[in-house]
Amino acid sequence: MSYWNDKIAIVTGASSGFGLVLATQLVRQGATVVLVARDEDKLEAVCDSLNSDSDSSNKGTADYFAADVTSTEDVTKLFAFVSEKHGRLDLLVNNAGLSARGRIEETSLDDFAKMIELNVMAVVRCSQAAIPLLRKSKGHLVNIGSLASKSASKFIGPYATTKFAVAGLTHQLRLELAEDGIHVMLVCPGPITRSDSGSRYNDQAAELPAEIRKPGAGVKIKTLCPEKLAADILTACEKRKSELVRPSKAKILFAIAQLSPAWGDWVLKKFSSSKNCQSSGH
Ligand SMILES: NC(=O)c1ccc[n+]([C@@H]2O[C@H](COP(=O)([O-])OP(=O)(O)OC[C@H]3O[C@@H](n4cnc5c(N)ncnc54)[C@H](OP(=O)(O)O)[C@@H]3O)[C@@H](O)[C@H]2O)c1
Repeated sequence: MSYWNDKIAIVTGASSGFGLVLATQLVRQGATVVLVARDEDKLEAVCDSLNSDSDSSNKGTADYFAADVTSTEDVTKLFAFVSEKHGRLDLLVNNAGLSARGRIEETSLDDFAKMIELNVMAVVRCSQAAIPLLRKSKGHLVNIGSLASKSASKFIGPYATTKFAVAGLTHQLRLELAEDGIHVMLVCPGPITRSDSGSRYNDQAAELPAEIRKPGAGVKIKTLCPEKLAADILTACEKRKSELVRPSKAKILFAIAQLSPAWGDWVLKKFSSSKNCQSSGH
């Protein structure tokens, strides 16, 4: 029987993209998953499809709650709903997040604040709301960061700023919640394969080198298979690992950059396809 059988999970940003892939695997492994996003119609359609999925012998349930994780009112209602309907929480995955391309100098303060609100403050908000429930279950809190949580990048706008913050926040949570038996894990993935890879940032990156529009923003790095990444996350979670980095060889870059930022920048440049860009992550 799967470790996730009969567990109750919340995945934010789960109506599409990587969050949906992760939620799907949890359901297939027997968990009851509350998928969270803003568009209720899309959530309902996705849950109907997951609940009629016959491709599993060990099947859980997909439930949903429409919420904007940047709203304290919505998040309060989400956790009240989970408590009342499901009675417990074993896993929170803070997955909802926004990326961008652009120069910091040209990024408006409004756009910067918007990204901080979703990528950082929403993670704080959902984590705070989940802690009392996770304390009871001795469950798992997983924050989806990026390679850009560890290695600063060029032309990905405020994204690296917010993902470094997610790494710091996750470290603090890990230290503070260990004595309560809550497992806290940071996930640092490189670019994930998706249907709109390569065209997603066309509007934003019009003035920047063409490589910046590609997954990885110019770094020569293979995109990750989302299903494999989701499986790795669930296994690492079950083993209560502190951190998961994919591809794992990126840890070498992180170590070099810690020892010497200049060496780290040199390595990034060497693996970038343009002299004008040095970047990693999303
Ligand atoms: N994609 C990559 O290559 C990559 C690489 C490294 C790390 N990551 C990280 O992985 C996570 C997922 O990335 P992704 O590319 O799969 O994301 P995505 O496709 O852009 O995420 C879309 C999902 O997030 C929901 N969402 C957006 N804003 C929301 C809000 N305010 N409240 C609630 N839900 C919201 C969307 O639904 P609604 O619009 O209906 O709300 C949808 O379900 C992010 O944290 C990202 O930084 C991604």
